[in-house]
Amino acid sequence: MKKLLSFALAALMVLVCVFAFTSCGKKGKTLDEVKKAGELVVATSPDFEPFEFLDGETVVGIEVEILEKICEKLGVKLTLKQMDFDSVLPGVTAGKFDCGMSGITVTESRQKNMLFTDPYCLAAQAIVVKAGSAIQSKADLSGKKVSAQSGTTAEEFCMGNGYEVLAFTANSDAEQALLNGNVDAWVIDDLTAAAMVKEYNEGKADSEKLVILSEAMTTEPYAFAFAFGSETLVEEINKIVKGLLDDGTIAGLFAKYEAPYTAPSSAK
Ligand code: ARG
Repeated sequence: MKKLLSFALAALMVLVCVFAFTSCGKKGKTLDEVKKAGELVVATSPDFEPFEFLDGETVVGIEVEILEKICEKLGVKLTLKQMDFDSVLPGVTAGKFDCGMSGITVTESRQKNMLFTDPYCLAAQAIVVKAGSAIQSKADLSGKKVSAQSGTTAEEFCMGNGYEVLAFTANSDAEQALLNGNVDAWVIDDLTAAAMVKEYNEGKADSEKLVILSEAMTTEPYAFAFAFGSETLVEEINKIVKGLLDDGTIAGLFAKYEAPYTAPSSAK
């Protein structure tokens, strides 16, 4: 009898611990809670053209328009909070914001800490160098100094490959490090590389230009991030995203921002 009692007690303690653990981890709002609040509070780093960038004071871009459509369907207001990229994911997992929107790549390690919607496109890491650089491919990067944005998959990729990485909270500073000659190359997601390099190269002589190497180094699905606990919300948003993919709305947004579109279904 005594044995049985202590066994039951031990089992109860395990249950209490498991419950405490899982409920502590659940910081995200449910679908009902967001509807009740009447707004979706979204953390974003608007230095990522064409996905989110500043037009004067206003945050615009492909992801802003996707989330506007999602919020319209949910019947809530979209509220954007601006910050550096390395604050977006920690802020979401801590429950400070309902959602993260920042050209966020879904990775296995991030999935351990948060929820993601289904991806809506695929991107890749690209190498940017100065015209005339000796670096012509990924192989040439070994032993070189590269710049990347802090907390990104670009930084992770470069560290994983053993490059000497200079990380910057702002994408424009990572670009500037290359222009100043502080690094040999800048690693950044391909579509943002294309937009930023196009802007920089405008009106410059060929010898002054930045060049994007054609080698795509990764395959990265982009999605919106939520804290654990937001399962019902994510489920509802996935239905909306599927509709926007199926009716061509998302492909149309890439066309509007003059960016080539790769559908998530093209993943190998
Ligand atoms: N896709 C990359 C990642 O998830 C880079 C995202 C950077 N986003 C930004 N808004 N600066 O790590």
